[in-house]
Amino acid sequence: TRLFTVLALESSADDTCAAVVTSTGQILSNIVVKQHHIHEDFGGIHPYKAVQAHQLNMPGAVQRALRDANIAAAQVDGIAFTRGPGMTGCLGVGCSAAKTLAAALNKPLVGVHHMQAHALTPTLTSAPNPPTFPFLTLLVSGGHTLLVLASSASQFRVLATTVDESIGRVFDKVSRMLALPWSAKGPGASLEEFVAASPAREDVAPLMPRAMPGVLGFSFAGLHSAVERFVTAQGGAASLDVSTKHGLASAFQRTAVGQLEEKVVLALRWCRDQGLGVRHLVVSGGVASNSYLRDRLGHSVINATRQDPVSLVFPPPELCTDNAVMIGWASMHRFLAGNTDEYSILIRPKWSL
Ligand code: KG4
Ligand code: ZN
Repeated sequence: TRLFTVLALESSADDTCAAVVTSTGQILSNIVVKQHHIHEDFGGIHPYKAVQAHQLNMPGAVQRALRDANIAAAQVDGIAFTRGPGMTGCLGVGCSAAKTLAAALNKPLVGVHHMQAHALTPTLTSAPNPPTFPFLTLLVSGGHTLLVLASSASQFRVLATTVDESIGRVFDKVSRMLALPWSAKGPGASLEEFVAASPAREDVAPLMPRAMPGVLGFSFAGLHSAVERFVTAQGGAASLDVSTKHGLASAFQRTAVGQLEEKVVLALRWCRDQGLGVRHLVVSGGVASNSYLRDRLGHSVINATRQDPVSLVFPPPELCTDNAVMIGWASMHRFLAGNTDEYSILIRPKWSL
């Protein structure tokens, strides 16, 4: 098969991304323009400001992606973009840009499912020994807390998702609530660093609720409010001594990661009972950079799969978080099969797997 080169755009949430990827898995460029700073004070993604930032940044991101790849737009073979799921206005920016580029350049177009792209990332990053289908993916970020079974490049099943908040957002909120020391890697990472820096007082742990025992689903709102209630009862973060903060932060991290361990074990057991032959668990998303999580999951998976070993795979962090490389890579099998979309294609802000 001939080499196929895709220019891909991603704008489903708060990052403006453009990348150039080839059918042999070469990443020719990977541009990510972050906008965290814009939403910092808002406590979430501000929809209008996010759209505005995408509109501001998308043309430059495309220009840089082509320049870094040392390729002219006319030499690209196809244009891919994130069709959904995501924030309506944000998706619209990438969709319009991609359709217009494709129409003007007379190139084929493919609209990609964002979660499928996350799930397929290890088939690119673990080359030449990628996880074999079917594999299990745990996606833990600011936007997602998901367990997905990938059966092929086009067949996915969500085994578990969060009924309320994502684990990453709760790490961020607890970290801010405790007014923890600042880390360049963000509030979630600063919580991990704070806990690692000192042995914890254990006595606040019993306040932490276990979410939906035995159920294949995530919930972090209860844990979030347990921490909030404790801090409020003590008179706010300013009145907590450092050892109490340590106890609280460590109990929070242990409970949050404990929930991931429990649900992963449930999912692996379910896969085994179904006789699916799952050999790999891929863990990705911003929270997957947490070393405590890596360590704990490592132990749990080994213990739970003694008879029938399952290997843990952690794609590199820069391709676990939102990016356009994964969009280009996920579009590839459709381009190669000639299964492309009309230039009139619309976004799908709500789109199940
Ligand atoms: O995938 P990601 O970079 O971006 C989006 O969600 O869009 O994930 C970011 C999330 C944030 O909530 C951040 O606090 C969390 O990942 N995070 C961490 C760590 N590093 C990043 N959470 C816990 N421990 C870490 N070391
Ligand atoms: Zn994502």
